[in-house]
Amino acid sequence: MDANGILQVEAGGFSTAVIDLFCGAGGLTYGLKSAGLTVKTGVDLDPNCKHPLEENTGAKFECRDVEDLTPADLKAWFGDADVRVLAGCAPCQPFSTYSQSRKSVDGRWELLKHFQRLAIELKPEIVTMENVPGLANQEVWKEFISALEIAKYQVSWCEVACEEYQVPQSRRRLVLLASLLGPIELQASESKLKLTVKDAIGALPKIGAGEASGDDRLHASAGLGAKNLERIQASTPGGTWRDWPEDLRAPCHRKTTGKTYPSVYGRMEWDKPAPTMTTQCYGFGNGRFGHPEQDRAISLREAAIIQSFPKEYSFLAEDDDVTFDRLGTLIGNAVPPKLGEAIGRSILAHIEAVRSGGSVLEGQLDLR
Ligand SMILES: C[S@@+](CC[C@H](N)C(=O)[O-])C[C@H]1O[C@@H](n2cnc3c(N)ncnc32)[C@H](O)[C@@H]1O
Repeated sequence: MDANGILQVEAGGFSTAVIDLFCGAGGLTYGLKSAGLTVKTGVDLDPNCKHPLEENTGAKFECRDVEDLTPADLKAWFGDADVRVLAGCAPCQPFSTYSQSRKSVDGRWELLKHFQRLAIELKPEIVTMENVPGLANQEVWKEFISALEIAKYQVSWCEVACEEYQVPQSRRRLVLLASLLGPIELQASESKLKLTVKDAIGALPKIGAGEASGDDRLHASAGLGAKNLERIQASTPGGTWRDWPEDLRAPCHRKTTGKTYPSVYGRMEWDKPAPTMTTQCYGFGNGRFGHPEQDRAISLREAAIIQSFPKEYSFLAEDDDVTFDRLGTLIGNAVPPKLGEAIGRSILAHIEAVRSGGSVLEGQLDLR
């Protein structure tokens, strides 16, 4: 480490620094840090991100709107690091009432355009973005890649199945890596091991619906009304509401026509990956979020572990109350740390490859 706490990359002693835009609770930051990168600053509008980011990763939290950031802000946070990495996960914004037209799809990705603006104006050596796979079909994504290429970045992107990176969850994500230093791409997983729900949460203490564990207040599950308690008792792992007796079905389930959603009100299966964690994953009626054998939805801690956060990850300051919607948002929105770690390893391997392949890195750095 240098005097500013910046990690000296073993590959040749170059210092690296990362800024994570839209950092949330720090899923991506934590993963990058686990790989060996130093994230100096995380930026998010939501003040609830400060505690988990700073407590678990050591990065400094900036409660700012990315739309208002300037390249000078980022420059100050990067300091004099040799290799600057701009990371982020620009979220899609909901349709506003006046923009509900097809024409305005790109308007929902305004934050991606701000990420692009900052990358192109500052030109950090490396840029990485994680996002939903559907973004790849949008014009705004093609414009982003083309802007990076015009700015002389070498760009690669791919859709990733998170379960291949030791995330015990079926979750598909888009990962982009771009570098001014040479070709860069996401490395294959270091292990072929795929984790199941049992591997992830099988050893946690038993709790009932509406209860919390004495050892960990995040191992808390949402309460269930009498009808939903009967419903989960009638549910089998991997089954659907179709297994229930007629009187437990909701009116929409009883219709013979119209759309139904078989994957809501389900129990997870021990020997498979969990379904995609969402911001509402603590609710039995919101997806296949029932515990495989206990009569309750998964707890907040179980959701975080399924996202591949370590089981001691601190999401709340001691004097903060456990609030399901606040924590569900932080957990469900996160980049799985294990995927973040794979992105970090890919960045470090790229720096090492560039360094050992010649003087490109030094040449590029001299250009600044
Ligand atoms: C998908 S989440 C990011 C998750 C995060 N990368 C992680 O791994 O935990 C998107 C984040 O963008 C934040 N956000 C939305 N609009 C923003 C804005 N204009 N400026 C800064 N942050 C914003 C949200 O508060 C949310 O935490």
